[in-house]
Amino acid sequence: MKILMVCLGNICRSPLAEGIMKTKLPDHYTVDSAGTISMHEGEHPDKRAVKTAANHHIDISKQRSRPVTRKDFENFDKIYCMDIDVFEDVVSKTKNEEERQKVSLFLEVLGDHKNAEVPDPYWGDMKDFESVFQLLDKGCEAIKKQLSEE
Ligand code: 4NP
Repeated sequence: MKILMVCLGNICRSPLAEGIMKTKLPDHYTVDSAGTISMHEGEHPDKRAVKTAANHHIDISKQRSRPVTRKDFENFDKIYCMDIDVFEDVVSKTKNEEERQKVSLFLEVLGDHKNAEVPDPYWGDMKDFESVFQLLDKGCEAIKKQLSEE
């Protein structure tokens, strides 16, 4: 099972989601992350994301930002998108129904469609990063449960 977490820049939300998910799943799962823009390609995650993860004993400092590629639709089984814009962008890159079926909104698993977006903490402060961490942790836990039931 291969899981891809996707946000806009791949420096805040999806690196945190990748880091959190890796702590929850056994090693035979592959967890990676990517962004819909390549503006931050090659950069490590935002310092505030690194610090927030470190506060929870998770090291995301070595991750590097990369954009989503066409290969991701072959390589990954599940592609979780952090917000609706990202979801629509990723869906627009799919070529067939099989690929389309792999893509979902990350928070959909919590069953609350009105709040199905992970807010972008990029323009916020450390408190925003911490609340995003908590939301991602909740989502990852629910995804883990869902995967174990499939
Ligand atoms: P992310 O946050 O999508 O959670 O990585 C952002 C990172 C960078 C930008 C926006 C959001 N940006 O505009 O550069």
